[in-house]
Amino acid sequence: MEVKHKPKVFIHSWLSDDLLSRLEKDFDIDHHDTTESILSGNQLLDRVINVEGILVQSALIDKTLIQSFSNLKIVSNVGVGFDNIDANLCTKMGIQVTNTPGILNDAVADMSMALLLAIARRVPEGDRIVRSGGFKANFYHLLWGADLKGENLGIIGMGSIGQDVAKRALPFGLNIKYHNRNRLSKVIESTLNAEWMQLQDLLKSCRFIVILCPLTNETKHLITIKEFENMKKDSFLINIARGPIVKESDLIIALESKLISGCALDVYEFEPNYDIRLSKMDNVVLAPHAGSASVKARTGMVELAAKNIENFFLKNDVLNPVNKIK
Ligand code: DGY
Repeated sequence: MEVKHKPKVFIHSWLSDDLLSRLEKDFDIDHHDTTESILSGNQLLDRVINVEGILVQSALIDKTLIQSFSNLKIVSNVGVGFDNIDANLCTKMGIQVTNTPGILNDAVADMSMALLLAIARRVPEGDRIVRSGGFKANFYHLLWGADLKGENLGIIGMGSIGQDVAKRALPFGLNIKYHNRNRLSKVIESTLNAEWMQLQDLLKSCRFIVILCPLTNETKHLITIKEFENMKKDSFLINIARGPIVKESDLIIALESKLISGCALDVYEFEPNYDIRLSKMDNVVLAPHAGSASVKARTGMVELAAKNIENFFLKNDVLNPVNKIK
């Protein structure tokens, strides 16, 4: 009987037992569950020798790693942002890269609103007051926050997630302003009542600013002290995209010198590290890169990443390519 060739695939992600069993039927699987640890550098190198496919959540697939492969054909990322992968090098080496767009939009848009509301209405501050025994009476002046209705919301990065945030923000009475490389069609602009602006004009005129653009060479340090100086003193910055888009040391200066009123962060420039001064400021809300952490999104993302592997090897087709290989 002919023995079927099973491509060797390294999985660096959580996945359900059912999905693992399904993949094991067609692939020779080595699995590292990322529930408790993320591998890096040599730990990763040791695991990926001779693999033909990698399904990866969070780990860095950089030049050193990519150049050590001789057989690698596909890197399937669990996530829409794929800045953890040197996709340009993969393209040069004929390696397919895929991601998981769409499935996480609702979760990330919900979390964007959650962070916006949390910083505007000081929800974590209130939680800290109650937990520490500080709730002694219904003091009239406790925790006055910012109103949303009638304020400008500036969305930097108006892809499908940005548009989903706009749809959620409209019923709160927020006016939608956006900055994006490409302008939306007139039809979408009018449905969302959204006005395109130059970045500096948007920063100058918005009370709430949500960052939702991908991290690229162009967007790294898009927000530095120069941009903070341009922002309204009563504004709030929400970053749920990628940490390095905001220069963290400049953000600290902006908060300490009250150039802005506060911020809510789901991502950090040197993740998982962050400047400890952030955790000491009451006008800062911190989350641990949990924008897509809903049951539907996280189970759906890994399922889609697995389908990208299956389609590539079994159907000679890719569902969500992010690069074009010959
Ligand atoms: C993404 O999809 O890029 C998210 O950041 C992963 O959680």
